[in-house]
Amino acid sequence: MKPIVFALPGNEVLAKSIANAIQADIGETVIRQFPDGETYVRVLSEVKNRKTIMVCTLAHPDEKLLPLYFLSKTLKSLGADCTCLVAPYLAYMRQDKVFNEGEGVTSEYFASLISGFADTLITIDPHLHRRHSMSEIYSIPCKVIHASSLISAYISEHITNPLLIGPDAESEQWVSEVAKNANAPFIVLEKTRLGDRDVKVTVPQVEKFKNHTPVLVDDIISTARTMIETVGHLKNTGMKAPICIGVHAVFAGNAFEELKKSGVDKVVTCNTIPHSSNEIDITELIASNI
Ligand code: R5P
Repeated sequence: MKPIVFALPGNEVLAKSIANAIQADIGETVIRQFPDGETYVRVLSEVKNRKTIMVCTLAHPDEKLLPLYFLSKTLKSLGADCTCLVAPYLAYMRQDKVFNEGEGVTSEYFASLISGFADTLITIDPHLHRRHSMSEIYSIPCKVIHASSLISAYISEHITNPLLIGPDAESEQWVSEVAKNANAPFIVLEKTRLGDRDVKVTVPQVEKFKNHTPVLVDDIISTARTMIETVGHLKNTGMKAPICIGVHAVFAGNAFEELKKSGVDKVVTCNTIPHSSNEIDITELIASNI
């Protein structure tokens, strides 16, 4: 029997293209709010003994988690063989330690919630910083996919003489990979986060690369302060206006507009989170890993 793909609200486009790519059916549901704000979930498709795939990117996760949980439980109650969660962006990966006394390690709690109702998880470039593998916090089988090959291909195709810049030590893992496949040089800066919207990034040493096009590469662009701070330094070097590439277009509040105004040439993201800056399509990458 063909697998069946369900889109959580807002994930319809990606779910449809994944279903097409793996020749699966698209599941029909009704997911809506009751007048009192509670979530109503009804599955209209036949799922008994079928593998089900729930597509739900997890930016703004708090409001998405309950519908996802209800859908997974409902699918199971209807006899679904297994529920695989495709979450191209996985939230709550950054609070991975106690930074200040009294805090919780919410990445662990979130992982335990997801592991409690989904049978497997597929995600793209989760923010594994102090954790090295998903199995440290997730108790279900997880497949981690990397967008680096797609980003390299984008750079090779669209950017002349690129210099890749990773804004912090954590970014080195993917910036070096992207650079290798794009056959481009890279540098990595150092970042200190002083608050949610307050970061300091070291001044890039780019004397050798004056004629290159600076390309900032990061996994998440959230407040965009990391990118904006780096763009500010680059302006003083006399290099061309940079291109910013992020895997996950989180863009909190008006971060995208602020980044655009900061003096960048272009902002490009993968479609792990639907956004107008999406130019790198991850459909095939996901489909080939299901
Ligand atoms: C964390 O270190 C990540 O790799 C990103 O650099 C960070 O999430 C970017 O956050 P923001 O856009 O809020 O500066």
